[in-house]
Amino acid sequence: MNRRYRKTIIAGNWKMNKTASETKKFAEELKTLLPKAKWCDVVVCVPAVNIPAAIKAFKDMRVSVGAENVFYEKSGAYTGEVSADMLKDLGVKYVIIGHSERRQYFGETDVTVNKKVHAALEAGLHPIICVGESLEQRELGITMELIALQVKSALAGVPAEKLRRCVIAYEPIWAIGTGKTATAEQAAEVCTFIRTTVRHLYGARIARSITIQYGGSMKPSNAAELLAQPDIDGGLIGGAALKPDEFVNIINAANQE
Ligand code: 13P
Repeated sequence: MNRRYRKTIIAGNWKMNKTASETKKFAEELKTLLPKAKWCDVVVCVPAVNIPAAIKAFKDMRVSVGAENVFYEKSGAYTGEVSADMLKDLGVKYVIIGHSERRQYFGETDVTVNKKVHAALEAGLHPIICVGESLEQRELGITMELIALQVKSALAGVPAEKLRRCVIAYEPIWAIGTGKTATAEQAAEVCTFIRTTVRHLYGARIARSITIQYGGSMKPSNAAELLAQPDIDGGLIGGAALKPDEFVNIINAANQE
């Protein structure tokens, strides 16, 4: 973290978990546990159908609501899809784009990720852009090339003034839901590389101000060490974000000086 230059953001990604009623229950529990002073922004990204319940439940808690996906067209014959304007209108602030599960199971590509980033920015949302390598790619030694490609293609055509609203999340696929966290050194190496990539594209001042998260089996026991890395400005948390006490413990780790 480096709070002098950029926001620390702790975001939960609920994936396909919890009903609207469970969303309300989670918020009530979270409210009793949240620290009063938060030096980090807290975001909860929920399934699309739970967004109205989440907006209502987190209203007085300084917790922003995020979506887990968005379609890139503004409106039209796209059965089952949700537009950025629809999310914005509900009060959504953040949207996860290009999560590896969407790339793997729903055919998302660097091209569609880029279109979604533009659509989200156009609507005034804050995209959380996910990048990350598979185990095979890591073992082939092509992690950095792949990350550079994902970052550059996600940000293609995004002007500097809009980049301020983007968050980048480094999520090594082999660490997601596996209990196998990247070491702080591995995570820091890639997050620093992402910042360098942004610097080459947009210059030092903007690169210094962008929030870069780590995601992949982040939990209370490893959060402090990961967040102690200067280029890791928060977390995108799956499993541990489903339990209010674990989520709060990660928020507390981000609250340390
Ligand atoms: P886990 O924290 O469950 O590994 O999930 C990480 C993730 O994919 C967040 O987007």
